[in-house]
Amino acid sequence: MELLPDILGRWMKDAFVRAFPEEAGRMETVAVVAAANPEFGDYQCNAAMPLAKALRQPPRKVAETVLAGMEMPSFLSKVEVAGPGFINLFLSDAWMVERLVELSRDPRLGAPEPGLGRTVVMDYGSPNITKPLHIGHLRSHNIGSAIDRLHRFLGYRVIADNHLGDWGTQFGVTIMGYRHFGDPEKMRKEPLEELERVYVLSYEKTKTDPEWLARCREELVKLQSGDPENVALWRDFTRYSIEELEHTYGRLGIKYDLVRGESHYRDKLLPTVEFLAGKGLTRISEGATVVDLEEEGLPLCIVRKSDGGFNYATSDIATVRSRIEEFMPDRIVYVTDERQQLHFRQVFAICRRLGIETALDHVWFGLMRLPEGTFSTREGNVIPLERLLDEAVTRAKKVLDETSPEMPDGRKKEVAEAVGIGAVKYADLSQNPQSLVTFTWEKALALDGNSGPYLQYAYARIASVLDKYGERFPGMDLQSFPVSVSEQVERTLVLHLLRFGETVRRAAEAYKPSVLCDYLYELAGVYSSFYQNVPFLKADEGVRESRVRICGITASVLGTGLKLLGIRTPERI
Ligand code: ARG
Repeated sequence: MELLPDILGRWMKDAFVRAFPEEAGRMETVAVVAAANPEFGDYQCNAAMPLAKALRQPPRKVAETVLAGMEMPSFLSKVEVAGPGFINLFLSDAWMVERLVELSRDPRLGAPEPGLGRTVVMDYGSPNITKPLHIGHLRSHNIGSAIDRLHRFLGYRVIADNHLGDWGTQFGVTIMGYRHFGDPEKMRKEPLEELERVYVLSYEKTKTDPEWLARCREELVKLQSGDPENVALWRDFTRYSIEELEHTYGRLGIKYDLVRGESHYRDKLLPTVEFLAGKGLTRISEGATVVDLEEEGLPLCIVRKSDGGFNYATSDIATVRSRIEEFMPDRIVYVTDERQQLHFRQVFAICRRLGIETALDHVWFGLMRLPEGTFSTREGNVIPLERLLDEAVTRAKKVLDETSPEMPDGRKKEVAEAVGIGAVKYADLSQNPQSLVTFTWEKALALDGNSGPYLQYAYARIASVLDKYGERFPGMDLQSFPVSVSEQVERTLVLHLLRFGETVRRAAEAYKPSVLCDYLYELAGVYSSFYQNVPFLKADEGVRESRVRICGITASVLGTGLKLLGIRTPERI
């Protein structure tokens, strides 16, 4: 289905071109935006003002000239010029209803498919392994997988790659730690805890014992040059880590197409540096190979250290080249915290110098903080992510004990898992990614604010209206009744539903799941005033069926929106 702003924008543009054919060159930017206030219509066009300046005419006159030659199209009921020259567009109720029905029959609920024929590689999550995930890992996984789902929904071919940090210096430290302090019994039972324990011990020792540090480096060099014993240990460590990750990913509903990691590209590091050198991009500085990025206003980037080792940037450049060769993506998107901005600017600049034209986007986010005292923290904010999730589920269960005492225990456990984890995910996604998020349980689990549980409850309540209708009026064929709008609040709801597709597109384009969160929160609010202000099951036959149908469509839109965010929607809470 074509989106409202596209249909209206095209009509507006045609009107402008028709009124001022000699100015057609300026018309590319003529567009409509959702009206800020319903008094000013449903959408508005502000293009008369800049054009008036160029024509040296009063903007109102320009707007009037534009409208003078146009017939009212079927999708509009009224067009008016307002204020200094705004053009306000009012959609026709009959047309809106027709579109709503069309939307309800579309499995994509009116969302477009701008991604058809396009491939995007998404690199998110991507933790450094052999350590358990902690809360700092939540945002990349969570925001990344939401952006991933939004793109798939819009028709993109997405290749989600968990680019594990599995080839870095931590392995030398861990191997030394395991050899000297490892406990095979613990290693069998809780491998990641054990690996973290030996890592911390070994790491502490590197700070005071230079010989130890040197030996850690040696172990790393041995691993990187293929020493069978170290490679075997590395394989074990990696396997344990991935198994544990899979468990958390299952809870979070995260699925990858590839889990490759930096090690996958290890044989491409030297050729990458040679390739850069062949292009004349490198020079030697104090024994290291570097790329100057002065032209881009960036600090120089070391691609090979003086000891022969390679850097994070080298690995990422090798990875870009390999992904392009293998998948021919139109775009590669990286989701990490804000501290990696410089790294990606350097990597992207070097890719540009290599003539790589694939779009490269870094989506960065602010760190998530917990207010003091929410958890006892051992060291900074290293709270295991699993603990955060467990805590959320426990708290959600307490809420359910109060709100749904009659729910059977097994079911309650399931719903608590969905609500608790939904709360954590939504609390993160609903923030502008670039802001610093302070997580509080009160806000995350609130049943009446902009929270995951609020929307999950809203969904369950809306879905229950359909059940109630089915019970009260068995055997009715709901779909055979036409949809109509009679009340203002009903119309507002229908218009909001029609905006689902444009919202999903905007959220994906801006890499901001928060845009969809805002929309869903508003939808739940509009629905709730609809539900409170007009009779439903008590309305006359016909009106009743129309309203129940609108309610069903609201449930589909809300449910689909939540699924796109990776939030489960229990039918009953
Ligand atoms: N492993 C890195 C970290 O934990 C993030 C990797 C992001 N992806 C990439 N291709 N550099 O900080």
